[in-house]
Amino acid sequence: MRTFGTQGRVYPSRHYVVPRTEEKTEFIKRVKEGRYIVLFAPRQTGKTTFFRLALDTLTTEEPNYFPIQLNFEEYEDSTASEFYANLYEDIREEIENVFQKREEVPPKALIQFLENTALTDHVSMRRFFTHFDSFLPDHRVVLIIDEFDAIPREALKGFLHSLRRIYLADENRCPHSVSIIGIKSITQLSYDRSVSPFNIQDEFNLPNFTFEQVCELLGQYTEAVGQAFAEEVVASIHKQTAGQPVLVNHFAAILTETLDIPKTEPITMAHFLNAHTQLLRGQNTNIKHLTTNIRRNPRFGSVLMRIMARDEGVDFNLDDDIISELATYGVIKEGVDGMCEILNPIYLYCIMRAFKPVLNGLEQEYFYGAD
Ligand SMILES: Nc1ncnc2c1ncn2[C@@H]1O[C@H](COP(=O)(O)OP(=O)(O)OP(=O)(O)O)[C@@H](O)[C@H]1O
Ligand SMILES: [Mg+2]
Repeated sequence: MRTFGTQGRVYPSRHYVVPRTEEKTEFIKRVKEGRYIVLFAPRQTGKTTFFRLALDTLTTEEPNYFPIQLNFEEYEDSTASEFYANLYEDIREEIENVFQKREEVPPKALIQFLENTALTDHVSMRRFFTHFDSFLPDHRVVLIIDEFDAIPREALKGFLHSLRRIYLADENRCPHSVSIIGIKSITQLSYDRSVSPFNIQDEFNLPNFTFEQVCELLGQYTEAVGQAFAEEVVASIHKQTAGQPVLVNHFAAILTETLDIPKTEPITMAHFLNAHTQLLRGQNTNIKHLTTNIRRNPRFGSVLMRIMARDEGVDFNLDDDIISELATYGVIKEGVDGMCEILNPIYLYCIMRAFKPVLNGLEQEYFYGAD
């Protein structure tokens, strides 16, 4: 039986999953067009799940694409040469995996080439891709890098320069498309954006779940188990979380597992209020991260209070370090008026709770004012 996943990536075989069909189609379209794409979004917003789903579709529906998935998470403290040595091992393993999954045997010449190659720096990486391409004339190589921002600082500049050189080289480039995924944007990695191959218009936006997507997710459970959610409950989950993926799943997990509501009864607002209390009191990783993050810098508190007070508002200006960091942590977002807003009512409540001794009266607004 499937469940609502709250720990890391979710898998359609084990979890209820929002397919994000539209976003997936758009992403695959850009990959096919040979774009160099960036996807930067805060922790636990569904980045890994999303691109894995997209890649699965690409792999099954488009056998002429050759996906290489990498993850730089472990390399943050590596030297550049350690990084390239490990990168090569990762690439090689991935190439072998793809052949295995497709139940194909790599050409002998390719096996030999892979055995005799070593990556030492970005230039050897660029040459490697050029040669590798010649073994797969009918394929387009698609490189996807998760946790890109953990790239060792000393390797970043060369890496981007080589990708740019490949990108600008010619139509039949290898990799055909590159996607980098992470929580910090390239600008935040303090690197001159002008030499990056990643264009600003190719930033991919992965929004929180819409109301329809929350309905779709909860609907999968109802269909499988036969237990319905009252309409008001679905609306309240969406409203309280503003569609933040892991929080939506947390609510659903509490309502369908922790609370032990008989499966023959519908899930009502009384259950929802109970779940709401549990979520706010519980040792939820997402909320723990939030509280840790907002205490990282003493200036966060005063900026958040100005945002919450909403007197004159705070401009959502990402050139401001404090605003940029709070946005990276997924604490604030840009409102329709271009001003900062706290991401959702749950976070608003947690921020108020965290800074309680210095606040007064704002709780009233949370509970009775803002609707
Ligand atoms: N498509 C989806 N359908 C249902 N739930 C999802 C989906 N995508 C993400 N989630 C929820 O968000 C959580 C985090 O997903 P995932 O690990 O893909 O995010 P991430 O942005 O890669 O996180 P991190 O930055 O920590 O690597 C999942 O455990 C699940 O609760
Ligand atoms: Mg991830």
